[in-house]
Amino acid sequence: MLSRLSGREHSVFTGVAIVHCSSKDHQLDTTVSEFYEETKVKFSELSEELLWEYVHSGEPMDKAGGYGIQALGGMLVESIHGDFLNVVGFPLNHFCKQLVKLYYPPRPEDLRRSVKHDSIPAADTFEDLSDVEGGGSEPAQRDAGSRDEKAEAGEAGQAAAEAECHRTRETLPPFPTRLLELIEGFMLSKALFTACKLKVFDLLKDEAPQKAVDIASKVDASACGTERLLDICAAMGLLEKTEQGYSNTETANVYLASDGEYSLHGFIMHNNDLTWNLFTYLEFAIREGTNQHHRALGKKVEDLFQDAYYQSPETRLRFMRAMHGMTKLTACQVATAFNLSHFSSACDVGGCTGALARELAREYPRMQVTVFDLPDIIELAAHFQPPGPQAGQIHFAAGDFFRDPLPSAELYVLCRILHDWPDDKVHKLLSRVADSCKPGAGLLLVETLLDEKRVAQHTLMQSLNMLVQTEGKERSLGEYQRLLELHGFHQMQVVHLGGVLDAILATKVAP
Ligand SMILES: *[C@@H]1O[C@H](CO)[C@@H](O)[C@H](O)[C@H]1NC(C)=O
Repeated sequence: MLSRLSGREHSVFTGVAIVHCSSKDHQLDTTVSEFYEETKVKFSELSEELLWEYVHSGEPMDKAGGYGIQALGGMLVESIHGDFLNVVGFPLNHFCKQLVKLYYPPRPEDLRRSVKHDSIPAADTFEDLSDVEGGGSEPAQRDAGSRDEKAEAGEAGQAAAEAECHRTRETLPPFPTRLLELIEGFMLSKALFTACKLKVFDLLKDEAPQKAVDIASKVDASACGTERLLDICAAMGLLEKTEQGYSNTETANVYLASDGEYSLHGFIMHNNDLTWNLFTYLEFAIREGTNQHHRALGKKVEDLFQDAYYQSPETRLRFMRAMHGMTKLTACQVATAFNLSHFSSACDVGGCTGALARELAREYPRMQVTVFDLPDIIELAAHFQPPGPQAGQIHFAAGDFFRDPLPSAELYVLCRILHDWPDDKVHKLLSRVADSCKPGAGLLLVETLLDEKRVAQHTLMQSLNMLVQTEGKERSLGEYQRLLELHGFHQMQVVHLGGVLDAILATKVAP
């Protein structure tokens, strides 16, 4: 090992993980911050004899790199670049800087003065750290000796003031970066929604960069407001900003302009115009355990899907655009999650615009697919069907899946339908599907599955979203399995589709 290092430069790395523990309400909370330090070490050309001498000294035997730079091994080293202590074993300087970042973030007045101090404060800054973090109230005993020396030097007053100052710094909790992001998260969402509503991304799609003032006049908005909106969109990575002006990123071209095949503009407008309002009443939803359509829309709603969304063709179309965009995003994954080629017919129950039906038809050219949804929806669904070879495989049937007979099919698809409904309605719907199934028929269920431990943020947010928007809820795989089994569906296979959706394929067995 040592002869390999001879005459050459090598790097010594130390990786450090600082595990910050705190406790609150008897819960242990840990955050980890990590860093590494690299030091380059150049060895002289070393003779075989010298290396054997060094080996026989016994010193290399317990050293990770085979030498101890702080002792005899120092004679092998021609030069080093970086922190000497890192080679010895621990990057003390970097470690202290890291502690400062964690426990002693710059105060605004320091930044304003912009005086470059040594980034490591006085040692006693760290003295009481363990005590503070342990949640104790009594400061640790200070080193009386060092205090006395300062007092003797006639700096008693200053020392006391310094101690006072350090005490405040020491007791400062870690800077709440993540918390501040959460607090302003709603502003970021609304900025995105507003840029979409103003059709900024439509304006910039496939166009040369444009100046803020020109964009402002085209979207009929103030120049000063538009510039700020464009800047935050650029900071969020939705626009590019150059000397020439603002232009769309690829994300904006594909998803934010309203006319693309995979546009999420409709979904974003649904969030802006309905979900946003519903979330205003989140507190009521939590207190009452019900959705908030009556508050957001100002009237009592009997059946959400019969009423609220569909009362006017305009909001109905908005909702359909939203569902279309979201379904397009995952339709291919849903259609290919399982090999469905042995089903010659399928019925997409609540299939809305037919976005999934189209993907099924594309993937399985021998499959006839019926889209079954409310008459108001079916009436508008044709708008969303582009012409193409699949058109002949797709049929639309109007009806209410809680009341009207379901079209017959070998495979029934329920894609993000059950989560809209409480258990009693889910039972009703599943029993109607089961009654329409012959033994061997399939049920393809697509939902966001709650993890059993309930820790995945996105699915939990969907769960909250369902509370505010619908009568339903997200469920775990176990919950869906029990529901399906009760209605005679077995032999379940589950595929995680990436993103947030999961697909379950179950088979109806003879009762
Ligand atoms: C799906 O199954 C059929 C037989 O049922 C088979 O011919 C086909 O190759 C399979 N497709 C894929 C992609 O595995």
